[in-house]
Amino acid sequence: MYKRKLINMIILIVGLVALGSCEYEKITYDVPDPSVPVSYATEIQAIWDKGCTGCHGVGKTPPDLTAANSYNALINGGFVNSDSPNQSIIYTCMASGGSMAPYTNASDAGKVLVWIQQGALNN
Ligand code: HEC
Repeated sequence: MYKRKLINMIILIVGLVALGSCEYEKITYDVPDPSVPVSYATEIQAIWDKGCTGCHGVGKTPPDLTAANSYNALINGGFVNSDSPNQSIIYTCMASGGSMAPYTNASDAGKVLVWIQQGALNN
């Protein structure tokens, strides 16, 4: 009887460890390496061009995310919160559950967060 309890306990622990490692893999996959600089002009603008400018264009729903205007629209429009990057509207709307999440993916949302954490540079 004691032996059976011990075996159940071991199975439970092995199961929990396996579950934990799955989650860890998923998180590291979605979030880009924060030590690698993100370029606004090439990487972030490419995200807007791919999934956002169809609706967020010149004279359409703000923010205007077209290449000539997006940086100023985001910074001046209050969509970036440098003090609390993960509370920036441009990030929260793209993150899982956000209103713009259907038009993007977790990896691009993560890239936007890292860009803000690195100082939201016009680089
Ligand atoms: C199909 C059209 C459409 C697409 C595609 C779209 N948006 Fe939007 N977006 C809207 C509309 C409409 C609103 C205003 C209503 C609302 O907030 O839902 C909006 C609002 C926003 C806001 C303001 C939210 C706020 O709370 O003030 C941001 C920021 C935004 N979108 C970013 C994006 C980004 C980034 C993408 C691309 C990943 C994107 N949107 C793709 C239609 C779109």
